[in-house]
This record gives sequence, structure tokens and C-alpha cells, in this order.
Amino acid sequence: RLTGTFVLSVFTAVLGSLEFGYNIGVINAPQKMIEQDYNATWLQRYGEPIPSGTLTSLWSLSVAIFSIGGMLSAFCLGFVSEWLGRRKAMLINNLFAFIGGSLMALSKLCRSFEMMILGRFIIGAYCGLASGLTPMYVGEIAPTSLRGALGTLHQLAIVTGILIAQILGLEVLLGSQELWPVLLGLTVVPTVLQMSFLPFCPESPRFLYIVRCQEHQAKRGLRRLTGRQEVGDMLAEMKEEKRKMEMERKVSILELFRSPLYRQPIIISILLQLSQQLSGINAIFYYSTSIFIKAGVQSPVYATIGAGVINCAFTVVSLFLIERMGRRTLHMLGLGGMCICAVIMTMALALLDSVPWMSYICMLSIFGFVAFFEVGPGPIPWFFVAELFSQGPRPAAMAVAGFSNWTANFIIGMGFQYVADLCGPYVFLIFAVLLLFFLIFTFFRVPETRGKTFDQIAANFNERSVGGMMDMDMDMDLDKPSTELDYLGEESIN
Ligand SMILES: *[C@@H]1O[C@H](CO)[C@@H](O)[C@H](O)[C@H]1NC(C)=O
Repeated sequence: RLTGTFVLSVFTAVLGSLEFGYNIGVINAPQKMIEQDYNATWLQRYGEPIPSGTLTSLWSLSVAIFSIGGMLSAFCLGFVSEWLGRRKAMLINNLFAFIGGSLMALSKLCRSFEMMILGRFIIGAYCGLASGLTPMYVGEIAPTSLRGALGTLHQLAIVTGILIAQILGLEVLLGSQELWPVLLGLTVVPTVLQMSFLPFCPESPRFLYIVRCQEHQAKRGLRRLTGRQEVGDMLAEMKEEKRKMEMERKVSILELFRSPLYRQPIIISILLQLSQQLSGINAIFYYSTSIFIKAGVQSPVYATIGAGVINCAFTVVSLFLIERMGRRTLHMLGLGGMCICAVIMTMALALLDSVPWMSYICMLSIFGFVAFFEVGPGPIPWFFVAELFSQGPRPAAMAVAGFSNWTANFIIGMGFQYVADLCGPYVFLIFAVLLLFFLIFTFFRVPETRGKTFDQIAANFNERSVGGMMDMDMDMDLDKPSTELDYLGEESIN
């Protein structure tokens, strides 16, 4: 039975993911307008139009500094969420969103691209924390039977946020020369909503009990969330989890790389994160409108919205696929599909001048690219990390994975425009090569984790590091579903 408090708590937390998605997508459509304003500001300040190289740098920085903010705050996630608690951390995090959103909204009025860049940095810091806190809180308050389904709400809210930003970015709505500050500033709306609802949401009982050892408060929270007076069974389950956690020593980030036990899994985790970001997906989300313009698509902003719709649709599709097909299979399917789409896109762009209908092929291949992304490289790297590591090393591994992800995100945001200017239509060939590399890596190195326990996964790694030989038949006959891992898989589903 779902109580009002529970629904409100989940909704409130998920607003954070929505905002994360919104800020990924929002920068895309108004690029040209904002660039013109940068140019105007420059002209006013220095009496000459902005050199086009400087404009590219300023714009790329505005896009990419978001990831620096995210990188730094994602690193603080563990500390902040234990120090303040999940709920207070979300509450205070909203200040970042508020300040960041206001800076961006006022930057045109103040004729300052510095404010815009600073705003993007601060909103990035918000997103780094929110993208960790939301799944954490929702995973902790959800009853076991609903944990998987609710965990996916986070991913769904992100893609919905991207789509909302793309729709509002239409020139007839808010993507115009006058209104783009409103578009960027709208990010404070979910912030204000979240801030006003959070006081009515209980702190995560799991956190209160396991981390703070406050049994009484935990019980009270459980009663509010479930609407039941008798919560002994849930408390017992938490006791069991606490006992398990205490049995395992915490592992530091340094140990993660030193110990031969963890070296292979951590390298795999990092490369999977890189495969997500270096696939070029954010080149699409940040820059699709300008790619569509180059491709000669008639209404580029509608094509961008099309990509957003496909993104949402395939996120839902992948939710159904993930528990049926293996993670490894889906990841390879996604990478392979993206690689092929990137090659087709390159050919279409190259032939554009001689064959006009190539712009349609280009558009379709971008849609395919996005669809394949959501099948594999989108959702899988995140919970793969959680599946490769048990309680002890997991927090450190998650921090390393988050850091690699945001770093790669930064490289794409910063570098794409330069490389695109340099290579012209062949820019996606670079992603195709990278995708091929990640595909090969996944084929040879990444084990299947579906339905396996940590012991089985660890044994698999040890065997291979001792034997030194590559075991091609990695899908060993250990397909008996293990309740422990199923549970963890659900808990950590992005
Ligand atoms: C900046 O504006 C000036 C005049 O308004 C224009 O001639 C120039 O092309 C613009 N520069 C860029 C890089 O867009």
C-alpha cells in the first residue's frame, strides 16, 4: 500500500533528476542566440566583434564547465550525504540550483558571460550531488519489491527533463533572443518546489538506522512512509543489512587500485563509464541543433525534439530488456548499433552537397544513435559498477566511476565544437572508432553479472588474473538467479 507521504517523498526527490536532465538539454537550442549576445557584449566592451576562436572557447567553456562542477560535487557526495543526511543534503543542495539558475538568468541583463559561465558551474555542482542523492534516497525509502521500478524513475526523470528543455527551447516558446534567460532561469522552478516539499518528507529510515543508529527515529520514519504501526519486519531487514556492512571493511580509493583483487573490476568500471561518455552522446545532447543545421535539416529544433522523444521511448524499452537479456549483451548491442549509426551519419554528412536527401539519412542515423545509447551504454555502466563491487569497496568504486564519467563528459563538452570545426563531417568517425574499441573491450574483458553473486564474479576475476589467459567463455554456467545479487541489482539500478 502506498501512502501519501511515500508518494510525495519519491516525487520530491525525483524533481532533482528532472532538473539534472533539464540542465543537460537546455543549453542546446539557444546556442546561436547566446553566442550573439556574447558577441554583442564583446563589441560593447572592447569596441570590436568577438574573434570567432574566442567565441568558440567561451561557448565551449559555458557548456563544459557544468561537468567540472558535477565532477567536484560528485566527489563530495559520500561525505555530504553522511554528514547532513540525505534529506538535509537535498535541501541545502537546492541553494546551489537557486544561485546557479539566477546567475544564468541574469547574465544577459548584466551583459556578462562570466556570470553565465559561473552559473553553469554552480548548477553543475548541484547536478553532481542531485544525481547521487536522488537514487540514494529513493532506493533507501522504497520497499524491496518496488526498489527496481522506482530506481528507474531517476533515469526516466532525467530523459524527461532533457525533453522538456528541448521543447521549451523552441524559438516560439522560450528559445528566442529575448527569452533565453527565462529558459535557463526556469531551472529554479523545480528547485522551489523541492524546497517547499522536502520539509514534509521523512529522512531515510535506512540512513537513520544504519548510519546514525537512531532506532527510534527510524521507526517513526518507517511508520510515516508505510502507514503501518507494526514495522518490526523492516527494522529486522535493516539490522541484517547493518550486520553485513559491519562485517566488511571499507576500502579506500587508493587500495582499489593497489590491490590485485580490485584492479580488474575498477578498470572495467572506468572503461564502461568512458564508453558511455566518449560514445559521443553528449555531443548530440549539447550540440544536436547545430549538427542538424549543418546537416541541412529543415527545422533543426524539431529534429532535436525528435531525438528527445526517442531518448525517452528507448529508456522505457531498456527497462524491460535489462532483466531479460544480459547486461553484457545489451551493452555490446548498444555500442555496435551506435558505431554503425555514426558511420552512416558520417557518410551522409559527407555526401550532403551532392545528394540533398542525405539530410534525412543523417537525421535518422542520429535518432538511431540515441536509441542504441539508451539500450546499452546509457543505463548499464552505472549499475554495473554496483554489481562488480560488494559493500566494502562500493562507495570508493562509485566515486571513481562518477569522477571518470564527469571527466569524460567535460572533455566532450569542451572539445567537441573545436574538433567539429576542424574535422567537418568526419567528426563522428572519431566516435565510431572509440565505440569500436569499447565494443572489443567489452567482448573480451567484461563478464556477465546478471544472476551472479559477488563471490562468483570475484572468483571469475581471480581465475583470470592468476591464469593470465583470457577466458572467452565468460558466460559461465552460473545462471541460477541469486537473490542477493538480484536485490543489489535492483537497489543500484541507476
Ligand atoms: C559579431 O557581430 C558582428 C556585428 O554585429 C558580426 O559582423 C560578426 O560576424 C559577429 N561575429 C561572430 C563570430 O559571430
